[in-house]
This record gives sequence, C-alpha cells and structure tokens, in this order.
Amino acid sequence: MEIHTCPYAIDPTGRDVHAEAAMLRARGHATQVQLPGGVIAWMITGYTLIKRLLTDPRVSRDSYQHWPAWENGEGELAKTWSLAIWVADRNMMTAYGTEHSRLRKLVVKAFNARSTAVLRPRVEQITADLLDDMAEAGRYGRPVDLRASFAYALPTQVISELLGIPEDLRPTLLRLVHGIFDTTLTPEEAEANVVALYDTMATLLEIKRADPGEDLTTSLITVREGGDGLTERELIDTLLLAFTAGHETTVNLLDHAVYAMLTQPDQLAMVRSGEATWEDVTEETLRWQAPLVNMPLRFAVEDIEIDDDVTIPAGDPILVSFGAAGRTARRG
Ligand code: HEM
Repeated sequence: MEIHTCPYAIDPTGRDVHAEAAMLRARGHATQVQLPGGVIAWMITGYTLIKRLLTDPRVSRDSYQHWPAWENGEGELAKTWSLAIWVADRNMMTAYGTEHSRLRKLVVKAFNARSTAVLRPRVEQITADLLDDMAEAGRYGRPVDLRASFAYALPTQVISELLGIPEDLRPTLLRLVHGIFDTTLTPEEAEANVVALYDTMATLLEIKRADPGEDLTTSLITVREGGDGLTERELIDTLLLAFTAGHETTVNLLDHAVYAMLTQPDQLAMVRSGEATWEDVTEETLRWQAPLVNMPLRFAVEDIEIDDDVTIPAGDPILVSFGAAGRTARRG
C-alpha cells in the first residue's frame, strides 16, 4: 500500500484494514494518522505498546477533560465532525478514573454475569430456531446469506430482548446505530443520524416508563430514579452503549469465525477431531480478525514518552488499533 500523505489519512471505507495497519506499523508502533474530518491522532499498532497504554492512568477516554480541541463539546468539532458521537456521549466508555468506576458500578447493579447467565437458555433457543430456518432456506442447495440470517440476526435479537426494545422500534434503532459506524457519512448526514438516534432513544424511554418490563432498560430507569446520580443523558448513552457494543462486535465475530472455518478446512478438522476447542476458535478469530479494528478515541493526560524518538504530547488523541495488535509479530 502506498503512503500518499503525512500523516497518513486513514481510509474511511476500511477496504483493507490489515494492510493499512501493517503499513502504519512499519512507520513505528505509534504514528500519526489523519482521521475522517481532518483530526490528527496517534495510531497505536504494536501489541505490547497497546497493552501498556490501555492500563496507563495517563491515558483517558474523556474528551471533555482531556482533549482541549474538543472545547468541552461546545466548539467547531462538536458541530462539524462526522465522528463526534464517538467522543461526545456520556457513559463509561468515555469516562475517566472515578467517573468511570461510578458509571460502571451503577450499570453492574442491573447488568452483570448473573443477569446474563439467566439468558443462556433463551440464547440457545434463538440460535436453534435460526439454524432451523437456515436449513429450511438452504434446502435443495439454495444459497443462504449467513450474515443476514444468522450472524446478524442472533446478536441483534438477543440484545434487543435483553434491553426490552419493542419489536417495531428495532429496525429504526439498528439502522441509526449503523450510522454511527459509517465513517463515510458527511457531517450533515452524521448529525441528522445522531438527532434521529436520540429521538428514538427518547421514544424508547417513554415507552418503558409507561410500561416497565423485566429488562435492562427498565432496570437502568429504576437505578436513575433511585437517586443514585445517573443523569438522563448518562442513562440514554449507557443504553446506547449496551445496545451497540452488544451486537456490532458479536455480529463480526460470528461472521469471521464461520468464514474462517469454512475457508480453512484443516483448521475445522482440528476442531472436529478435538485437537482444538470451540473456545480456541473464538480466541483465535478475535486475534486474527478483531471485530472492532480501531477504537476512537483516547487522549494523553500528560506527555507520554513512547521511546527515545516519540513522545505523545498531553492533549493529543490516541487511536488504539485492536486489529493491528492481534497481528503484531512476536507480540512486539
Ligand atoms: C465479540 C464480542 C465483543 C467484543 C470483541 C468486544 C470488544 C470490546 C472492546 C475492545 C472494548 C473496549 C473498548 C475500548 O475501551 O477501547 C469493549 C468495551 C465494552 N463492551 Fe464489549 N465487546 C464484545 C461484546 C460485548 C457485549 C455483548 C456487550 C454488552 C451486552 C459489551 C459491552 C461493552 C461495554 C459496556 C464496554 C465498556 C466497558 C468499560 O468501559 O468499562 N461488549 N468491548
């Protein structure tokens, strides 16, 4: 892949994310890139460096506190940047230090290993039904779209049920969430998408407040109304985080894993013979094809020396590349 600009402008279509990451890694494990909309960030592509920075308290996800260019969400970027929603929302994903612990603790009250374990029989039922439907659709050798009929259908149904999203609201919400991940939208399109998304979330809360259910949305409304300090914005953004993180990643993992098994029969044979487990398939797929390739954005709280030649100055954005981390030779 040729380098046309310096810093290199990330391809917003994501046509070949691994070739792009490999080319950038050749420039160094921390190198400057240009994101859609012209924002310059440090892209981190080395496994060891990513591991180090993910646990470094000098790295924050809070744009309001640690990204001067964000101007507290009141400046030009908030109005015109097509990726603004990635740093603008107010939930644990964009919180720092004690704020992160506060938001996470409030969510864990309603959403934890125990509450998700209860879902297992339902997930198994949905899976079995979808597989039956696929078998039926594929009778007499007819082709079946794996992504549409299984990889996408399973996680979206599970997370929608977990959150108690009414069926007629699901297609709209899913379409608007995909808009968040569409890095080719113009600033106007992205803004319209965000407005529609928050309108739809307001409708969801209205419905659930009028008609509570046994679901995560109702539980979080209860947490908010219990006076524990969860604001309305944090409530909405936390629900959005759970809905989005709860399916975009899993859809990609399922797609990639099945594709890998079908295109590498020797690997499938290892699983079938018991030489490797299905857990190995999951772990290896996560490494080989990270469902979330680049994660916007983190910020340097103070100057961070990477090596003798590179220091990330305080206030600079950082883009962690989970996709690149999984493919770093010898975990460099
Ligand atoms: C294959 C499946 C999944 C993958 C690969 C994945 C990946 C990730 C990654 C990489 C992060 C950290 C992002 C960052 O800070 O840079 C993250 C955070 C998070 N994910 Fe997932 N995720 C998956 C499934 C899920 C599901 C099913 C849910 C919810 C139902 C979920 C909810 C969250 C939440 C709430 C956070 C924020 C945690 C925090 O800040 O403390 N994820 N996920």
